[in-house]
Amino acid sequence: MLICNVVGARPNFIKMAPIVHELHKRSIAQLLVHTGQHYDTQMSHSFFVDLGLPEPDVYLDVGSDTHARQTARIMRAFEQVCLHYRPDLVVVVGDVNSTLAASVVAAKMHIPIAHVEAGLRSFDRSMPEEVNRLVTDHLSELLFTTEPSANANLQTEGIASERVNYVGNCMIDTLLKHLDAGIEAEPWARLFGMEPASYGVLTLHRPSNVDEQEILAGLIQTLQRSTDVPIVFPVHPRTRNRLEEAGIDLSAPLRPCAPLPYVAFLGLVARSKFVLTDSGGLQEETTALGIPCLTLRSNTERPITIEEGTNCLVGTDPYKIRESIASVLAGNWKQGKRPPLWDGCSAPRIVDVIEHWFSERC
Ligand code: UD1
Repeated sequence: MLICNVVGARPNFIKMAPIVHELHKRSIAQLLVHTGQHYDTQMSHSFFVDLGLPEPDVYLDVGSDTHARQTARIMRAFEQVCLHYRPDLVVVVGDVNSTLAASVVAAKMHIPIAHVEAGLRSFDRSMPEEVNRLVTDHLSELLFTTEPSANANLQTEGIASERVNYVGNCMIDTLLKHLDAGIEAEPWARLFGMEPASYGVLTLHRPSNVDEQEILAGLIQTLQRSTDVPIVFPVHPRTRNRLEEAGIDLSAPLRPCAPLPYVAFLGLVARSKFVLTDSGGLQEETTALGIPCLTLRSNTERPITIEEGTNCLVGTDPYKIRESIASVLAGNWKQGKRPPLWDGCSAPRIVDVIEHWFSERC
């Protein structure tokens, strides 16, 4: 049995790492394919180092492009990989273009697909990730979910429940494994000369927030006027490009910096006062850590972070953002709790299911 694990973008590395480690522990043959969707040291290599991931067996080197061209390049290159190695199962994670491209290729070659983080839905098809999720789920043989809403969504869409396994959250496996190291590294002091719990953290990279100058400028202005508390802002390359194009300067309380390696960023978030974000993953990480999360979007595909966790959708309305930051700073925020099975053991559950599935097929 040969399992082919496909990664391409930053959040993929975090979700795939515990699966790669678990397969290795059980001596199951695996192949790690990196599409090269993310390629900068800060967006890719530093994650492989921090997460203890081996060098990819195959690097497709596709780089950035329009959605169609990037997806097509991954498909062409990944087809060759499948022809050469003939894997028995392709494992994809999350909802990026690499996830979609690898799934389409595998499905056309009749190679079964396992999708980790299946079933999440924002019900907003203007998000590229929503399209990627829908297609990938409907092509997958094994679907691994992180929260009950995902099971309900898949059921509504007619996907047989025998194929769906609620296993918890692999990203939280990684978080729990590295949390102590992140805190011991004291990134707030070492990188920014600050005290713990004296700052916020901001991430921003959704096309809907950063690709239009007016929206991006409005958000930055609102954040700069909302508080005196320093806000560390590791700037994603997409956002950096848009800020430069629009000539937007970042000033206090924002403290911009380059994207951070995984462990440093985890430590920084774990000791922050609050997080402002439009990322999907960070909504879950803050829920696991019990840190208030103000999500700069009007919807989420991860409703459990609102129902049980520390997340709140504040959107992009300046008044709501200011009010929410004021509430957090006044100590008025829900405590939240960690959702069921976000316990650091999701990857072993996934590999159990895969092994059982293989044994049934033989
Ligand atoms: C991608 C995912 C998004 C995920 C995000 C995490 C898709 C459709 N989007 O968005 O779901 O939340 O990754 O970071 O798959 N760039 C660099 N260096 C890199 C990578 C990108 O400079 O290593 C720049 C390029 O200018 C590129 C832009 O960032 O055009 C956007 O990269 P891309 O991978 O297309 O989308 P992300 O915004 O990163």
